[in-house]
Amino acid sequence: MNGLTAVAGLAGQRRHHPETADRHRSVVVFLRAREFQRSPAAHTLAARATDAYENARATVARFLGASSARDIVFVRGATEAINLVAQAWGGQFVSAGDEIVITHLEHHANIVPWQQLCAKTGARLLVAPVNDRAR
Ligand SMILES: Cc1ncc(COP(=O)(O)O)c(C=O)c1O
Repeated sequence: MNGLTAVAGLAGQRRHHPETADRHRSVVVFLRAREFQRSPAAHTLAARATDAYENARATVARFLGASSARDIVFVRGATEAINLVAQAWGGQFVSAGDEIVITHLEHHANIVPWQQLCAKTGARLLVAPVNDRAR
């Protein structure tokens, strides 16, 4: 998805969900700045986009209780985030003999990265059953 597509998508969402307009404004500014990188307005827009992006990072860090905003990494979605954790953190700290526990309710995005990590490290993937009451 390029910046323009994303802006169009967000504009469409704004029409359907006006209450989310504020949350999307920073993202739109950021994406537009990327589109106009070579224009004379680039510097101002890029600076605003960077400020908005870094403010969002600080807000999320406070919300999560992270010790530093530098610990916050934005990615495109759950699949990318889980793969990043499995490969980066898992590749460093998981080894043969460890057990990774998921449930049989998981989305595909939360199964494959752990299967791959287990194949690479020799850890075991355990799948916990869940009943109809989610227990
Ligand atoms: C429970 C769950 N996990 C992960 C995903 C994948 O998320 P993403 O599209 O953000 O990668 C989805 C997508 O519908 C989901 O429902």
